[in-house]
Amino acid sequence: MRGKFITLEGIDGAGKSTHHAWLAGFLKSRGKEVVATREPGGTPLGEKLRALLLSEPMHLETEALLMFAARREHLDKLILPALAAGKWIVSDRFTDATHAYQGGGRGLAPEKIAMLENWVQAGFQPDLTLVFDLPTNIACERLVGTGNAPDRFEKETREFFERVRHVYLQRAATEPDRIKIIDATQTIEKIKNVLEDIVSNIC
Ligand code: TMP
Repeated sequence: MRGKFITLEGIDGAGKSTHHAWLAGFLKSRGKEVVATREPGGTPLGEKLRALLLSEPMHLETEALLMFAARREHLDKLILPALAAGKWIVSDRFTDATHAYQGGGRGLAPEKIAMLENWVQAGFQPDLTLVFDLPTNIACERLVGTGNAPDRFEKETREFFERVRHVYLQRAATEPDRIKIIDATQTIEKIKNVLEDIVSNIC
């Protein structure tokens, strides 16, 4: 039986990485064979593209094209074969991030993103997408609190992240069956309970 494809999304600082690891462990405890991965990245070439994307200044269309180049590789080398082999994929970000960051944040035309999405994915979509949502001021405080040097995206303005957040919320409203909003201001324990409820529905 084909596995399922779950993606985690949200603005930088929403805390999804903590839950990414937890969710992979939870699914394993339910007897699933799980592959935890991320975008941009997930393959040797994808990780090289990630390093460029997070550090090199570039035209917004170059950025979108590289995101989809990494995704094409990710689908071919990892996601599609693993799903066909019955494994479950838990990916820290996928195409909703391109709509939110390159579309909302950078202002790239939605038709251009849709064109690339149709080309690379041919209708393929995650089975479930969890959007970790919180106000941008809290996310910014959390990012500063980590003490880590910010990457090219994390250096963006509050207004940029407002636009990114808005697109995530808009997409969740138009695809409520696939995209679930998680209130990321809650405690980690409470969020785990919410995730367990949502994910149990498709296990
Ligand atoms: P991460 O910090 O969640 O690992 O993701 C790396 C950054 O890449 C994050 O700031 C969001 C950004 N990103 C995009 O701008 N577009 C995309 O399509 C993806 C997958 C990530």
